[in-house]
Amino acid sequence: MTEHPEDPGTAPLSGLFEAERSAEIVAASFAGTSDERLKEILTSLVRHTHAFVKDVGLTGEEWAAGIRFLTETGQKCDDTRQEFILLSDVLGVSMLVETLNHPADGQFTESTVEGPFHLVDSPPRALGDTIDEAGQGGEPCLVTGRITDADGRPVAGASVDVWQADADGFYDVQRPGEVPDRNLRGLFTADEDGRFWFRTVVPRYYPIPTDGPVGGLLKATGRHPNRAAHIHLEVSAPGVRTLTTHLFVAGSPYLDSDAVFGVKESLIRTFAQVDDPARAAEHELPHPFRHVDFPIAVQREVQSGAE
Ligand code: BEZ
Ligand code: FE
Repeated sequence: MTEHPEDPGTAPLSGLFEAERSAEIVAASFAGTSDERLKEILTSLVRHTHAFVKDVGLTGEEWAAGIRFLTETGQKCDDTRQEFILLSDVLGVSMLVETLNHPADGQFTESTVEGPFHLVDSPPRALGDTIDEAGQGGEPCLVTGRITDADGRPVAGASVDVWQADADGFYDVQRPGEVPDRNLRGLFTADEDGRFWFRTVVPRYYPIPTDGPVGGLLKATGRHPNRAAHIHLEVSAPGVRTLTTHLFVAGSPYLDSDAVFGVKESLIRTFAQVDDPARAAEHELPHPFRHVDFPIAVQREVQSGAE
């Protein structure tokens, strides 16, 4: 009789299941993983998942409900909708990963999640242009800032990609046909001194998408779906670590209960009222207008091989 090549023969049986040692037994099955990092991640995942099941005493019905929830989460995903990222967002996992991987160390501007509305390329615009092509109302606003490194040296020519919701709390992609494509988006190039400025309207707070399983989770737990009013900025330049962040409007509702935990104190700025006709005329803005200044410090990448 030919023996099956994987026949364990008379070797002692070591992988038999026991609830008390469940995590250890399953983790041992990854012992042959050649990718050490993969092995570390899977082992820790098993350890924490098994501890969680034991901690809450998970029932079969609850396990099945969890599987159904995750299945529906996957089924809600398509090319433009990522319900799994939304789930990660409302559980605070996206912010944790972002923050741990982009420590500000008190020297750099803090980061936040990118979010799902950076779907389309922002149109290149000249410094001082407006990103409000729709002109459908809202408070006119001037945004200014300067990109520097940790030593205060300007990052000349940095790219500043901005996108935001409108004064009613909608992104352009949520109002197709109603507002011009790429409304309230812009790709700016900072000047020689690292400065950028553009015109817009003050954004409003808005709800994250609630028509999927994540919306159901928020409802079941009595949580609201709103994000505090913000402008997204992504700053990049050669030799600089790309920064993804938000500029939050001081006084906005939901600053202290943002649905995705995206708010950090250092990113909240006053959008001050300016009642100065000469300054308004200089920037082609009506008066009064609102003004916010957002200095941004980015991290220069260490040159490998530098002495
Ligand atoms: C956003 O700010 O665009 C956003 C971030 C996370 C989830 C939903 C929206
Ligand atoms: Fe947003």
